Amino acid sequence: MKFFVDTAEIDEIAELNDLGMVDGVTTNPSLIMKSGRDILEVTKEIAAMVSGPVSAEVVALDADTMIAEGRKLAAIADNIAVKVPLTWAGLKACNTLTNEGHMVNVTLCFSANQALLAAKAGATFISPFIGRLDDINLDGIELIEDIRTVYDNYGYETQILAASIRTVNHVLDCARIGADVMTAPPKVIKAMANHVLTDNGLAAFMSDWEKTGQKIL
Ligand code: G3P
Repeated sequence: MKFFVDTAEIDEIAELNDLGMVDGVTTNPSLIMKSGRDILEVTKEIAAMVSGPVSAEVVALDADTMIAEGRKLAAIADNIAVKVPLTWAGLKACNTLTNEGHMVNVTLCFSANQALLAAKAGATFISPFIGRLDDINLDGIELIEDIRTVYDNYGYETQILAASIRTVNHVLDCARIGADVMTAPPKVIKAMANHVLTDNGLAAFMSDWEKTGQKIL
């Protein structure tokens, strides 16, 4: 499973990148706002730091302007994936930008039918939002399962990029189903290493080791 980091905070990306945990990065207008950075500048910095895809989102609502924005974002670096919303304008922009050879991430997906349209439009990635479905008492994980089934039925190569991941359980559920990629905030990725038995076991080993009086170095 590929791990993308869902943030525009350079330091947090760098920290996880140094741990070998970053296969790509996703950003959106809200994350750019939170970072307080200029979208073109911060996207360039991120794309230079990581070798995998870096999603940068268009903000226009009509296809022609989305395409123009997408071309500008894609020109930042070879590893930019242009992120477009799952609207007919976004699907048109996806089709055009894909035909031009750009990676496209279709975002704000909340149904398997939407995901089917994105695959037909040639999307590199489809981003179903798990947490936001859970927020309204719908089943985000079931959506990932449905999209996996639909894509596998027809051999679509669009990668399922599970997004709006809020918990470590979301990550595991997506991995069980076979989502190609998950994107999560740094704090969720970091929390995956936590286990109380690891902490307790390490404390016991350290305590016993101290009693031996030995040193390795
Ligand atoms: O990148 C989009 C997505 O991951 C947003 O997550 O938590 O704002 O629903 P969230």
